[in-house]
Amino acid sequence: MNHLLTQIECKSKEIKVAALKELKNVCQQCRACELYKTRTCVVFSDGSPDAKIMLIGEAPGADEDATGKPFVGRAGQLLNQFLVESGIDRQKDLYICNTLKCRPPQNRVPTNEEKQACQAYLFGQISIVKPRIILLCGTTAAQSFIEQDIKISSIRGKWLNIFEHIETMAIFHPSYLLRNHSTEIGSPRWLMKNDLMNVKNKLLEISD
Ligand code: URA
Repeated sequence: MNHLLTQIECKSKEIKVAALKELKNVCQQCRACELYKTRTCVVFSDGSPDAKIMLIGEAPGADEDATGKPFVGRAGQLLNQFLVESGIDRQKDLYICNTLKCRPPQNRVPTNEEKQACQAYLFGQISIVKPRIILLCGTTAAQSFIEQDIKISSIRGKWLNIFEHIETMAIFHPSYLLRNHSTEIGSPRWLMKNDLMNVKNKLLEISD
């Protein structure tokens, strides 16, 4: 029985990998908004297509645009520290992507038109990966799925009912935490650590 289950799991992973590859190929040719003119790389994803958690950030920065991988710059390194501290394995437990797949010049905030142009790729990723948990990392990701002018500080850390069968939580963006160094009780870094520990507990719960 276990052998059969492993075979089914492998098969479904293969199907996910193939579907994501196809979507990535389409995305790499994308010219749906003006950002294709200034991008070096399309930044599609990192981590495991089989992960239970999907983390959605804002958009690639300079390091991501240069390497083609999300969250590899300073913000990504800080995110990695928080993940390690909370026992979440970036490569195994997470599938990481962004609201936009191309870098906005000077890292400006994505426009609504850009978000709309990129939405089909993000929804495609969600429906292929089928995560059990989605983390909306920062204001742009949260506003794309909740309300246009929602404040991250008012909703972060709560389990939200946005997608059917997917537990969703908004968390602070690591760029914000790079500007806020305090780790005192109640500080943004302290809250981020608590939120990710709750996420780890949820991950253990659903893996049982
Ligand atoms: N900020 C993001 O939101 N995503 C990245 O990939 C890098 C920085």
